[in-house]
Amino acid sequence: MSDSAARHSDEASISTDLLRQLAYNEKMAELGKISAGIVHELNSPLSVIVSASQMIMREDGIPHFVQEMIARINSEAQRLSHLTKGLLNFSNHDESIGPLEVNLTVDFILNFINFEAARRGVTIFKQFDHTLPVIHLNSNQLKQILLNIIMNALQAIGNDGGKLIVETIASSGETISIIISDNGPGIPGDLVEKIFDRYFTTKQPGEGTGLGLFVTKSLVENMGGSIKVSNRNGGGTTFTLLFPTRCNSVPP
Ligand SMILES: Nc1ncnc2c1ncn2[C@@H]1O[C@H](COP(=O)(O)OP(=O)(O)OP(=O)(O)O)[C@@H](O)[C@H]1O
Ligand SMILES: [Mg+2]
Repeated sequence: MSDSAARHSDEASISTDLLRQLAYNEKMAELGKISAGIVHELNSPLSVIVSASQMIMREDGIPHFVQEMIARINSEAQRLSHLTKGLLNFSNHDESIGPLEVNLTVDFILNFINFEAARRGVTIFKQFDHTLPVIHLNSNQLKQILLNIIMNALQAIGNDGGKLIVETIASSGETISIIISDNGPGIPGDLVEKIFDRYFTTKQPGEGTGLGLFVTKSLVENMGGSIKVSNRNGGGTTFTLLFPTRCNSVPP
């Protein structure tokens, strides 16, 4: 193939990729709006369940086992209510860049995926450095980055239990690191180079688009940060995110 034919074919494939990505983003945005509507509708019945169960618990003469069941209903409904509020918080399209307490954002995401982790028998270990300085980032973007990496880790661990370790570290006042490790099967050496490529996936068709880490890397780099992956000692994978403390993310 001549140079110019090769260039044309490259350009054509980039614009097809771009169109597919735009169509995917649009579909996800639409799905997000529909889910936000459903989640919003769930809030009212959940509030009724929480307050009605509290009223029942205050009644005298209720058998002990009924009291226990009502208390259980109350705490589960409260848990769902927190989850739905978290989802609504997520679906806002705030693109502003503001001072961010990274530990709080990481904790928000860990609470958000807590149910999914528990369902898979995954134990979460948090090691937060409480001396982290506040940095300037878009919080929705950081949430998306963390969620992409953590969902990959949970998917890699599978459904038979495992551990997810999330650590934050302030280094010499210059950088903040967020380190996310899992004890899943790890990434085979020959694939490590490819995992950030657009559309690279080892998942079954329909289960993964291969866009997660591609988007994650672009977002991190737009913020002036970096992302790297390594094999974890003892098996599994470690993703390390580094953000300069003078972070300056640009809106998407
Ligand atoms: N923690 C991990 N352990 C093992 N393999 C991983 C891990 N994280 C990512 N990978 C590998 O990297 C590939 C690319 O991940 P990426 O998030 O970009 O796409 P995906 O998860 O396959 O699909 P999706 O677009 O739905 O996120 C995965 O298919 C998987 O093979
Ligand atoms: Mg993924």
